[in-house]
Amino acid sequence: MKFDLKADFPLSGSAVSIKKEIDEFFSDYDKNVLNRGPSQKRAKITWSLCGEDLYKLHIVSGSNNRAHNHLPRIKKAWNIKIGKKYHVSGGKGTKIEKYKIEFELEKESLKEITIPFAEVKLKGKQATIILKDVTEEFLRRNYIDRMINLVREKVENQYYEGKGEFWKPIWQSPEKKPMWSKDPTEEMIKLGWIKQGPTKGKWFYRPQAVAILKAMEEIAIKEVLKPLGFQEIIASHVVPFDIWLKTGHLEGMPGEFYYVAEPVTRDVEKWQRFIDLMKITKDVSFDELNKNLSTPQAGICYAQCPVIYWSFKGKTIAEKSLPVLVYDNTANSCRYESGGRHGIERVDEFHRIEPIYIGTREQLLDIRGKLLERYQHVFNDILDIEWRMAWVTPWYMKQAGKIGDTIKQDTGTIDFEAYMPYRGSRRDSEWLEFQNLSILGDKYIKAFNIKAQKSELWSGCSGIGLERWASAFLAQKGLDPNKWPPRFKKHLKELPEGIEFL
Ligand code: SER
Ligand code: ZN
Repeated sequence: MKFDLKADFPLSGSAVSIKKEIDEFFSDYDKNVLNRGPSQKRAKITWSLCGEDLYKLHIVSGSNNRAHNHLPRIKKAWNIKIGKKYHVSGGKGTKIEKYKIEFELEKESLKEITIPFAEVKLKGKQATIILKDVTEEFLRRNYIDRMINLVREKVENQYYEGKGEFWKPIWQSPEKKPMWSKDPTEEMIKLGWIKQGPTKGKWFYRPQAVAILKAMEEIAIKEVLKPLGFQEIIASHVVPFDIWLKTGHLEGMPGEFYYVAEPVTRDVEKWQRFIDLMKITKDVSFDELNKNLSTPQAGICYAQCPVIYWSFKGKTIAEKSLPVLVYDNTANSCRYESGGRHGIERVDEFHRIEPIYIGTREQLLDIRGKLLERYQHVFNDILDIEWRMAWVTPWYMKQAGKIGDTIKQDTGTIDFEAYMPYRGSRRDSEWLEFQNLSILGDKYIKAFNIKAQKSELWSGCSGIGLERWASAFLAQKGLDPNKWPPRFKKHLKELPEGIEFL
């Protein structure tokens, strides 16, 4: 690694009469600070006076002694040694004219990349980034290291582009003969059980469909969560950016959020023109609306767990409360699915119960085992569906925009997938991911600074998507309640009559 920095170091007065002292100051800094210790720690500075009150500095360093870290140090030393004595302060408004950083990549880059704030040149395993006209503030904020990391990450990702996702089977149920092979969404629309919602990817569920979703909900709560001791909490649906910054969602999924904009004011006078325009045109004036809306600083729930972790932020959990087992069953999740939408299976707004668990590694492995047991009981004995489990790329990697990682020891995500007969053969069609279960290690525990009295904490979560459960079930079992498995019918004795339209 090589850091090559050219900076302007302005003075508050003329250097002419004290040039000798200044030369001494810099050569002293060069000898005693920069040029010391093992070779990889050494750096070199050269300086030249430009006019009367500006020094041009050139610092070249290796990886362990980054050139830019010396600017504030030089400024400090200057003001002690020169500033006080000769009343010429230095370094106020230091500007970096050019900063060239060269470093080695793990693998050769496959194509060019770009990053903000700098020009990037890649040649084989060699990367060079060149910054121009940078402020001190910029350097202080640790942007440089993050820019280097971003270059590394982008080159690393080039190796995963176009590769299939990680998928490793764990278990598969026996084949089960489907009752039919139709797309349940289409058929439910025909029967009037559901209606396409007023905006993209949303659905309006009529009584019959609601009864099915509610049966799924009851099964999840009574057969899985309550027997294991999960307690219900209610999380907010609106997630401020600082939470997603901590979980990584904001950098991973910015194109998938539904953003929430607050009004700038509720002062009626400020809204008067908007109202008046609407009264005359019977339409929404977006120009006028924009004047009264603030830029979004939050989004609608994407997964429930981030806000649940936030609720534990900075807390020390008593040993006797471990493992913490809680679930949210109220926050709707919204994801801008765009091209991927299909029926009630892949939607922009969905209903999910999300249990999360916090405890020691052993406690979490235990709870994972117990959840798996209860889920197997539900899918085998109650819904009686054909399904399988596989290790997949952990959702927290995917949702943080990371690729290529797989299972690490005990952490990772298991997907539950169901055969969807309407999509084709078991072998060639895509199965529906109808549920997941993850252990995340200490990722969010650290991000939200959650502690226990003694134990080291881990966390995990599991997504129980009600639309997904219903889709998997109905795709295999059809819409005729008489053909539904008897143990499911215990949770849904009779379909409501619904509403008849003429
Ligand atoms: N957080 C997990 C997910 O988003 C489970 O809900 O899939
Ligand atoms: Zn989660």
